[in-house]
Amino acid sequence: MKIGILGSGMIGGTLAGLLVRAGHEVWVANTRGPASLSDLVDPLGPSAHPAGIEEAAAAGDPLVVVAVPVAAYASLPTGPLAGKVLVDTGNYAPSRDGRIAELEVGTWTSSKMLAAQVPRARVVKMFNTIYYADLRDQGRPSGSPDRRALPMAGDDATAKALVAELVDQIGFDTVDTGPLATGRSFQPGSAVYNVRLDARALASALL
Ligand SMILES: NC(=O)c1ccc[n+]([C@@H]2O[C@H](COP(=O)([O-])OP(=O)(O)OC[C@H]3O[C@@H](n4cnc5c(N)ncnc54)[C@H](OP(=O)(O)O)[C@@H]3O)[C@@H](O)[C@H]2O)c1
Repeated sequence: MKIGILGSGMIGGTLAGLLVRAGHEVWVANTRGPASLSDLVDPLGPSAHPAGIEEAAAAGDPLVVVAVPVAAYASLPTGPLAGKVLVDTGNYAPSRDGRIAELEVGTWTSSKMLAAQVPRARVVKMFNTIYYADLRDQGRPSGSPDRRALPMAGDDATAKALVAELVDQIGFDTVDTGPLATGRSFQPGSAVYNVRLDARALASALL
């Protein structure tokens, strides 16, 4: 699959490596431009491409990972992202993002911001509960007894199936909490945030 990754930091950089190793082609972008991405992208081989933000957003088809601070969502290019599966990895952190009025109310999430901003986007919330080093290190083959599960929310069943397949390929199970709005149940401060649980334990902790 051709995957765009917006953000080359802890989460974007980690996912770039995992997704290339799973056989995908990735276009990775950050604010500093393609020349700044050699250290990350070169060791990953020909399936990893340094890109500009618009280029990575356009190249990911059908899926683009959004791995930038939530405060940066408002500046993402909506045209090339329209209609795509967007994986929202974000956690709103006022200390980093500043105060974002919609997110202070509590009924909105970063996922809803993204969905409201990008026309016809099929947003799936995924990866926000796992520390990047655990994402890098804790993947296990399907069926392993200690395989970690990650919660997922989204309104589009086809998009969620695609994301669950990718997550499986990089070594994790998925627990689907339901519509995008249920992503609130696994934000920072929830019982499942940054906790290593298998699928059964995660599903029961989310009840
Ligand atoms: N770190 C974790 O373990 C972890 C775990 C789960 C979820 N998250 C969430 O994942 C998101 C990313 O976190 P992170 O820890 O990976 O952050 P990070 O290490 O600070 O990396 C952020 C990346 O986003 C890029 N960026 C910033 N503004 C951008 C814009 N407008 N367009 C394109 N790229 C932009 C930065 O570019 P430059 O490199 O040029 O500065 C950087 O590459 C956050 O919402 C965070 O809460 C993080």
